[in-house]
Amino acid sequence: MKIASRLVAWQRKHGRHGLPWQNTRDPYRVWLSEIMLQQTQVTAVLDYYQRFLSKFPTVKALAQAPADQVMAQWAGLGYYARARNLHACAKQVMDTWNGKFPPDAAGLATLPGIGPSTAAAIAAFCYGERAAILDGNVKRVLARLCAIEGDPTSRPVELKLWSLARDLVPTARACALDPDLMSSYTQGLMDLGATVCTRGRPNCEACPIKKDCLALLQGRCDELPWPRARKVLPERSTAMLVAYRTGHVLLMQRPTTGIWGGLWSLPECAPDLAPAKACQQLGLALNTADTLAEFVHVFTHYRLTIRPHLVNIKPDHAAHSGGAVRPITEGEWVPLNRLHERGLPAPVRKLLDGLLAARLLA
Ligand code: ADE
Repeated sequence: MKIASRLVAWQRKHGRHGLPWQNTRDPYRVWLSEIMLQQTQVTAVLDYYQRFLSKFPTVKALAQAPADQVMAQWAGLGYYARARNLHACAKQVMDTWNGKFPPDAAGLATLPGIGPSTAAAIAAFCYGERAAILDGNVKRVLARLCAIEGDPTSRPVELKLWSLARDLVPTARACALDPDLMSSYTQGLMDLGATVCTRGRPNCEACPIKKDCLALLQGRCDELPWPRARKVLPERSTAMLVAYRTGHVLLMQRPTTGIWGGLWSLPECAPDLAPAKACQQLGLALNTADTLAEFVHVFTHYRLTIRPHLVNIKPDHAAHSGGAVRPITEGEWVPLNRLHERGLPAPVRKLLDGLLAARLLA
């Protein structure tokens, strides 16, 4: 049996079937899941996906929603450019595609946030199109199957992997006989990468294509694929003011571009600025200040060390805009029991949740 046929048979018996974005050909639902699943594990996505869909049940509802609401539903999933692109994509589907997603992978790939692999996945799942996918997991499967050396994120290796991915797609004849073939095949590749051909300790015994796997035959599964050439990430640091008074904390909305674009965050200042000085610049009347333990948040392009200052503010002093914290556009005293309504960056939410649990904010 050919590789594709064995993958399909394996997927139908051993693959994942009950995920909430499966058993539908609705491009809105499939598209949403594929965007959420980029760089994010299935278990982390499940709750977000259901909540997002009940808030925005159609592409029209999403397109018409204010950006703030979309960001609030996304907050915590990370890679916020995905959420901004998601919103832009929904608007484009409404405005230029008459409210219907494009009918093939080529059309889908013209939309914001949809790369060639995501476009192919949506087209395979929804339209049965014979389009090849190549996400991080599939790269690993193919690099092992064909013993491809080199960094799989480098251009030449990536081109080789794309070519292999296209060669493996089921034939047009096979697809004509089975309308669900491309869906099972595509899900099979994803499932194999996620559950069998894992990065560490792959379960080669259970693999439906083990007899074709060059890495296995050569005893090189732990060496392939090559790890991505790791850059040393630049270090940056900042201080955050957790300014609170009478059941409220001061949040500021980030500008729409840049990190945490559009999310509500804490006011920041230079890491070596005394909290009293930072409060003064923000027009806040300081009562008490405590500097808390620093922690690190890792972004794709740098590591950020965050030094939190817990500052109690005397009542009746609102934040003035202006002062040193220019990149942030607006401040608002948000009641502690309504923090969940705002889109907060994951490290800020963790920090505030920790302070609330320790009863340090009131
Ligand atoms: N990762 C990306 N797409 C996926 C899907 N459809 N099912 C499971 N994991 C995925």
